[in-house]
This record gives sequence, C-alpha cells and structure tokens, in this order.
Amino acid sequence: SQRRKEEVSRHQQILDTAHAHYQRGLKASPAAISYLKQRGLSGSIAARFGLGWTGGDRRGLAAVFPHYEDPLLVESGLVIEAEDGRRYDRFRERIMFPIRNTRGNIIGFGGRLIAKGEPKYLNSPETAVFSKGRELYGLWEARAAVRTEGCVLVVEGYMDVVGLAQQGIEHAVATLGTATTPEHVQKLLRLSNKVVFSFDGDKAGRRAAWRALQVCLPLLRDDASIRFLFLPQEHDPDSYVREFGAEAFRASLAEADPLSRFMLDELASHHAMDEAEGRAACVHEAKPLLALMPAGTLRMQIEREFARLVKLTPEELAGMLEAAPETPP
Ligand code: UTP
Ligand code: MN
Ligand code: MN
Ligand code: MN
Ligand code: MN
Repeated sequence: SQRRKEEVSRHQQILDTAHAHYQRGLKASPAAISYLKQRGLSGSIAARFGLGWTGGDRRGLAAVFPHYEDPLLVESGLVIEAEDGRRYDRFRERIMFPIRNTRGNIIGFGGRLIAKGEPKYLNSPETAVFSKGRELYGLWEARAAVRTEGCVLVVEGYMDVVGLAQQGIEHAVATLGTATTPEHVQKLLRLSNKVVFSFDGDKAGRRAAWRALQVCLPLLRDDASIRFLFLPQEHDPDSYVREFGAEAFRASLAEADPLSRFMLDELASHHAMDEAEGRAACVHEAKPLLALMPAGTLRMQIEREFARLVKLTPEELAGMLEAAPETPP
C-alpha cells in the first residue's frame, strides 16, 4: 500500500543517515580503526562492507537527527525509549555492520563492542523492515561471488563473512545470531543450488549444524546439494582463514560432508550401533527425520544407506517407516 511504501522509505532515510554518521565515526576513531587492523581487516574491506563506528555518547545520533524525539527513531530500532520516557542510542561504542536486503537497502545493523563487555554483539530489533529470522548478513555483498563460485557459504558471524572476504572468499553469508530458519534455507536455495554450512568448530556449532540439517530436510531437492563443513574445535571460519589461509580453507570446503553423510554419521553417533538395541533406537530416532524429506531419488538414496547402517534390508526399513508408531501395550 501507499502508506507502507512511505513508512519504508522514511525508515530507509533514517537508516542511511545513521549509516553515513557511523562511517564518518569510524574515520574519526583511531581506536576503532586499530581494532579492525588488529583483526586483519583493510580499509578497503571496511569500505566494501560499509563498516562504521559509534562512540560512547548516549545521544550520539542527535548530531544527525536534530529532532531526536521523533518516534520514528524508536521504531527504526536505533533509539531506545526507557520506562521514564527518556531516550538514548541503542548502539554505543560498537563497530557497526550494516545489514542490507537483497536490493541493497540497509534494513538494520549489528554492532560489536571492541572492549570487553556484554553483549558482545547487539543487533537491531525486529522492525517494520527488519526480520532476523529471514535475513542473511552479507547476502547483497556476496551476490556476484555466489554466482561465479556457483555456491553459497553459510557461517555464524559477521566477522566470519568479513574475514573470509578479506582473504578473497567472498561467497559467504551469516545468520544473524539466530538458528537457521526455513526462510533462510529457501532464500539460500533460490540463490544457488549448492549450499555449504560452516558453523564454529565448538559443541554449539555442531548442535547448530544438526538443527540446520533438520530445517533443510523438508526442502531437499534432487538438483540441490547441501553440505556441512566442520572446522577444528577452537576455530571459526574467520580465525581459521587467518591462521591457515584461503587455500587451506578452500581445500576443506571441497571436503565438506554432504548432508547425507552428516545425517547418518550423527544418527549413528547417538547410539550403540554394534548392538541390536542401539540400531533399533537409531531407527526410532531416524523415522521422523526421514519422513520430513520429500519423495525423490535423494530420499531413496539416503534410506538405502540408512538401511545398511542399521542392518535392515531396504524392504524391511520401508516397512518400518510405514508402520504406525509403536504404542505401549
Ligand atoms: P560468535 O560468538 O561466534 O562471535 O557469535 P564471532 O562472530 O566469532 O565474533 P568475534 O570473532 O568474536 O568478533 C556468532 C554470531 O552470533 C551473534 C552474532 O551475529 C555473531 O556474529 N551474537 C553473538 C549475538 O547476536 N550476540 C552476542 O552477544 C554474541
Ligand atoms: Mn564453495
Ligand atoms: Mn561460537
Ligand atoms: Mn570469531
Ligand atoms: Mn565465532
């Protein structure tokens, strides 16, 4: 509608004005510049991603929004209104990462503290133009590389996207501190039929990958390939590429596990597969997951490999999958 269009364009103006302010802030802050340098980032990468800096002033944005009391500033997520009605900037003393939609318009920000403190990252709240569960950081910046690489890489953090790009790996995007959603996966598969997830090499990363796999299952297609790259324990893509270089990262990308292998390995790792009881429990766990997959050759292939894993014939497994869930006597 016309009203919605006007609302969006007013939000747009506010976000663009704030962004220009944050970019000027970075140019004027030796501490912020030296933080980015120390993280291995060049000025041209900072410019490419539109990075900025916001200082400690509680009403820093008043410098560019003389009408600081404008309710739109609160609606845009940049200004917080306290219980007592007083207003102040949401983002202070943070490196600012603009988040763009597929058209390149800024829809929100992520901000990282450079000093120790909590929370390390702060994101824009949900607004009229920003929905965390749908957006992917870096998608707009990555679009050309995704086409030439024929692949999109999904990582956890802002710094992973920017750090990889610094080393020439430009086809990465990040979820915004939320779990992978069906909207994310749909968006990714529209962009490329090759998707590689690379979460941090810690327990949380492994759990996030397993949850992402379950979100992917209903969306599998025979013409799409989804893979999972697991980095060594203490690394995330940014730290890995800084320590070992782009060639090493690309080599490990080439060896990422296909979804089918990750799924079967992970299922097997949950159970004592050398015992009849363990294999039965494994089938029990797998049943609802296999049921999520759309019919197709990939599903048949995965079911065949799974049957071998649990020592059933494909026919026996098919019978088990069709059978109603066991009910206690
Ligand atoms: P990480 O803790 O892995 O941070 O969070 P990072 O990206 O490696 O950051 P650096 O290298 O320490 O700078 C991954 C992502 O989770 C979200 C952010 O989107 C972050 O990029 N996150 C993390 C938050 O939203 N809030 C937090 O406090 C921490
Ligand atoms: Mn690739
Ligand atoms: Mn982590
Ligand atoms: Mn990191
Ligand atoms: Mn990380």
